[in-house]
Amino acid sequence: ASLTIAVLVGSLRKASFNARLAGAMARLAPGDVEFQRQRLDDLPPYDQDDDDDQPAPARRLKQAISAADGVLFVTPEYNRSVPGVLKNAIDHASRPYGKSAFAGKPAGVLGVSIGAIGTACAQQHLRTILAYLDMPTLGQPEVFLKADDGLFDDDGGIGADSREFLQGWMDRYLAWVRAHAA
Ligand code: FNR
Repeated sequence: ASLTIAVLVGSLRKASFNARLAGAMARLAPGDVEFQRQRLDDLPPYDQDDDDDQPAPARRLKQAISAADGVLFVTPEYNRSVPGVLKNAIDHASRPYGKSAFAGKPAGVLGVSIGAIGTACAQQHLRTILAYLDMPTLGQPEVFLKADDGLFDDDGGIGADSREFLQGWMDRYLAWVRAHAA
């Protein structure tokens, strides 16, 4: 693949709108871009005592992020912030100090919610985290989606109403990754 993108989805549930969004967005990219969804459900709660002997799932996650050209965060909003599952994964892959997998990796942020503000609060919190992690993060366009009928088409792609906007986002995101990839 000409570009590899590590995808972190902040929901574990099987019917997750955010997981569907991640899959549908991948279809808007050219065929030589590979989106690799990372497994987050087997990461134990982060424990700093393990920093010099990180658990295998954390090492796997770090390896995948290190090997990727960019990172795509697709997350719901839980209680006006980032779900604990996603924050736990970020904490794991950011450690030990000085050995973060995220430093310098270009990032994009997407989210879909059943609520009207479409994950805006969670995204603001996430952007603060990504700034601290020294990840150049695409600023515009912001993507705040509501899980309405028609967001996805029958085939699991992006529905007609949102397709042009999200195609534009994907084109800009991939240009951003290419511009910032090491
Ligand atoms: C939510 N939900 C939610 N929605 C929102 O817009 N703002 C919020 O603060 C919250 N808080 C919240 C907390 C918890 C613990 C849950 C389980 C849910 C609703 C959320 O948008 C909805 O469940 C989405 O469907 C979750 O995304 P996935 O799992 O479909 O990707």
